[in-house]
Amino acid sequence: MSCKAFIFDLDGVLTDTARYHYLAWKQLADQFGFHFDEKDNERLKGVSRIRSFEIILEINGAENRFTEEEKEKWANEKNQKYVELIRAITPDDVLPGVQAFLDDAKSRGIKLAVASASRNAPQVLESLKIADKFDYIADAGKVSKTKPDPEVFLVCRDALGLKSEECIGFEDAQAGIEAIHAAGMYAVGINVDVTSEEPDLHLKSTAELNVDRVLAAAGQA
Ligand code: BG6
Ligand code: MG
Repeated sequence: MSCKAFIFDLDGVLTDTARYHYLAWKQLADQFGFHFDEKDNERLKGVSRIRSFEIILEINGAENRFTEEEKEKWANEKNQKYVELIRAITPDDVLPGVQAFLDDAKSRGIKLAVASASRNAPQVLESLKIADKFDYIADAGKVSKTKPDPEVFLVCRDALGLKSEECIGFEDAQAGIEAIHAAGMYAVGINVDVTSEEPDLHLKSTAELNVDRVLAAAGQA
């Protein structure tokens, strides 16, 4: 079966917003005197805003410290910090190799989609000026189950009218690799901090992205 679509995570794959998510959570964690470092942050990649805050609380044995409303409030506060940070995003923030990779794939008729858990994804893609390259951008607000659940990848697959084996997913997070596999797709990892499931093809950075290489690795050259 030939590959008909590439489905991308956004944060940490198309641009380095994973760093901004970390900085915004770090500020909030510091406010409460919570421990939170870059290693802990790996567990937050790909998971929803509210679940991210719950993980920080779990790391600090503070699961019961806040009510559901308070958790919402602080998660929104983190989002306000994040939104301030992403205001500075420009097309220069598209990660190395990504523009050429998207253009090459598109010229070969491969469909492109974004499977991000972020409700800020449309804004980030607009600021990067790459939104119009994609055939489909999943609406994170309508996806009920967070990665490692495959839902967001399946939503993209269905919107494109394809089968799982015709899609290749790209992720920088462990939860994302699990989501791609659970969706029955081939998984390309970008600098993933692997703790359980290995991607099928693991690249050190987006600079290594190459359409022929990815298709060959997936046995579809
Ligand atoms: C994912 C990020 O893409 O989006 C997570 O990897 C983030 O770190 C999640 O928590 C939700 O993002 P947002 O912008 O809706 O808070
Ligand atoms: Mg990511």
